[in-house]
Amino acid sequence: MIPEPLQKKLREWQPKFSPTLFRVTLGAAFLAAVFIPIALAASPFIEFFNDMAVQPKGKAQGTYGRLYGPPMIVERKPPAGTLPMDWFPYHNEMETEEDARNAAESIPNPVPATMENLRIGQHVFSIYCKTCHGPTAMGDGSIVGPGRFPAPPSLHSDTARKFKDGRIFHIITRGQNRMPSFAVQVTPFERWCTVHYVRALQRAMDPKPEDFGK
Ligand code: HEC
Repeated sequence: MIPEPLQKKLREWQPKFSPTLFRVTLGAAFLAAVFIPIALAASPFIEFFNDMAVQPKGKAQGTYGRLYGPPMIVERKPPAGTLPMDWFPYHNEMETEEDARNAAESIPNPVPATMENLRIGQHVFSIYCKTCHGPTAMGDGSIVGPGRFPAPPSLHSDTARKFKDGRIFHIITRGQNRMPSFAVQVTPFERWCTVHYVRALQRAMDPKPEDFGK
């Protein structure tokens, strides 16, 4: 139980306005409103709900110190002659068809002719080429014929035999007349594998002594 004198005091209590207390409170609120945001902005270590507004990012070609670890290097210009890791020789930047074809013909097949790569080529051929060119590249695929897709020429012609590897790579990459490009579906590596496979088909049709190791 609250003692009687205290109950009386509570009953008779009236709020009193103190101008001094009022000014002190107002002053403190003002100082807090001004200086707390300044202090927070000045100190990068304290972040309240920054919601990813502050991210480690830098402008290209720059070096930036970080809180931890070595400085961050942003997109420095590679030294002259640097090649990307998955780079394949092909002159994509060439504008005219003729320039691109000539450039492509100068590239030897960079993929080794191993059994494994030949299998990859066979796989690609059976998915993307067989429908038009036929299983043995005679130009008798399942979708060609009168009233259907126009038949492609046989890849066993003298012309196709004399194509350089780079030329076939180029035809797969850019397409040729009615033949569409397969640059999106078939990676450069797979294209070179397919070139090996086309070569294997051509040799199978017209074997030479060296094909038998003699
Ligand atoms: C939609 C049908 C179609 C598909 C699929 C197709 N080709 Fe062709 N291909 C053609 C036609 C049609 C031509 C003839 C283009 C022309 O008139 O120059 C051709 C031409 C070629 C030539 C040049 C032959 C020559 O004598 O000029 C090569 C090489 C070739 N294709 C390889 C391939 C390879 C490799 C694939 C699979 C990645 C493939 N083609 C997929 C229809 C196709």
